[in-house]
Amino acid sequence: MSANQPGRRDPGYTGLTSAIEGLPASYYFDPVHYQHELARIWYRNWVYVCRSSDIASARAYRTLALGDQSLLLVRGEDRVLRAFHNTCRHRGAALCRVSEGRFPAAGIVCPYHSWRYSLRGELLQTSSKQHGDGFDLRDFPLYSLPVTEWNGFVFTALTKTPPPFAASFDLPLNRLDDWQLGELVVGHTLRKTIACNWKVFWENYNECLHCPNVHPRLAQLVPLFGRALLERRDDPSWQDHADDDDPKYGGGLRADAQSWSMDGKPTGVLFPKVSADDRKSGHLYMTSVPSVFLVAHVDYVRVVALRPLGPEQTEMSIAFLFLPETLADPKRDIMNAVQFTDIVMSEDAEICEINQRGLHALPHTRGVLMPEEYAIRQFQDWVRSELTRA
Ligand code: FES
Ligand SMILES: [Fe+2]
Repeated sequence: MSANQPGRRDPGYTGLTSAIEGLPASYYFDPVHYQHELARIWYRNWVYVCRSSDIASARAYRTLALGDQSLLLVRGEDRVLRAFHNTCRHRGAALCRVSEGRFPAAGIVCPYHSWRYSLRGELLQTSSKQHGDGFDLRDFPLYSLPVTEWNGFVFTALTKTPPPFAASFDLPLNRLDDWQLGELVVGHTLRKTIACNWKVFWENYNECLHCPNVHPRLAQLVPLFGRALLERRDDPSWQDHADDDDPKYGGGLRADAQSWSMDGKPTGVLFPKVSADDRKSGHLYMTSVPSVFLVAHVDYVRVVALRPLGPEQTEMSIAFLFLPETLADPKRDIMNAVQFTDIVMSEDAEICEINQRGLHALPHTRGVLMPEEYAIRQFQDWVRSELTRA
């Protein structure tokens, strides 16, 4: 496109119509700003932890490090999952040193002076010969945090007053009901540490301008992505093909493919309730910033979870969820699906690292958003509003 060419924009066009300034470059590496984002964004929103099945039995626990915070999630004898700061109320020792395990029937015992807590977080016992006047066990329960278990996904928040859980998703909570999320089983997990700021990852997630260059295989599987577009109306001249069902215009997978896999074939048992329209589109994204997105395919669901490890380091873990029948059938090669995602996500991880490396240039105070990057604009607006929210 030549300089200053206004071009045609059909009604309903979704792209940006003016150049928009990106966030300050320092937001992507400055350690002070990073702490600020942890406090304002990561400690105030719902954060995905793991599958309920990872903490399934009574007294099972998990810890999660987020920034300088350590959280403890434990399943009670009553099967209720509870979350606490992993900190003793005496003088603040960390209660659990490992990332998962099972508490004894006695409950949670601090490794320092053996204060003992119930799995509900009540302080049951100290180790002192007697308690000082005015000391009351009831005044020192563990610091508790909210927990939501939704369809087998565990979320917690480092604040007593997180936003409503449903509002943390970009689609209604029941949108993926046809995928029977609560019954799905993890068949495989991939983990990567990416040398980029967590926002670099989300920005890359929010555009497909990079797809033809970065994802040659995906660009073939999803022809619209091959045109660097996410949706039909991202093309300023979309009305030329408004009724054309070709996936090149309408989205969805190429004609001979049904799922994201090496050969485009499904590898898992198909979800029986998924509608014909959803089958046709081949993928449905559901996102909860800042920590997770789900991608529902005809035969599996991908859960991609993020966690910041530092200003320029982000952990990504990808779980592949299938119907139990799929995993019980040895003839089904789930690696057909896993490998494809591994290729795509490795390409994304690598390009995110390349993006991160260039951000430090002294004259590069901020980037600029192009029309196709309207969803990055929404993301950056959200970041700005979270940073200033009371
Ligand atoms: S710090 Fe936990 S018992 Fe002393
Ligand atoms: Fe990508």
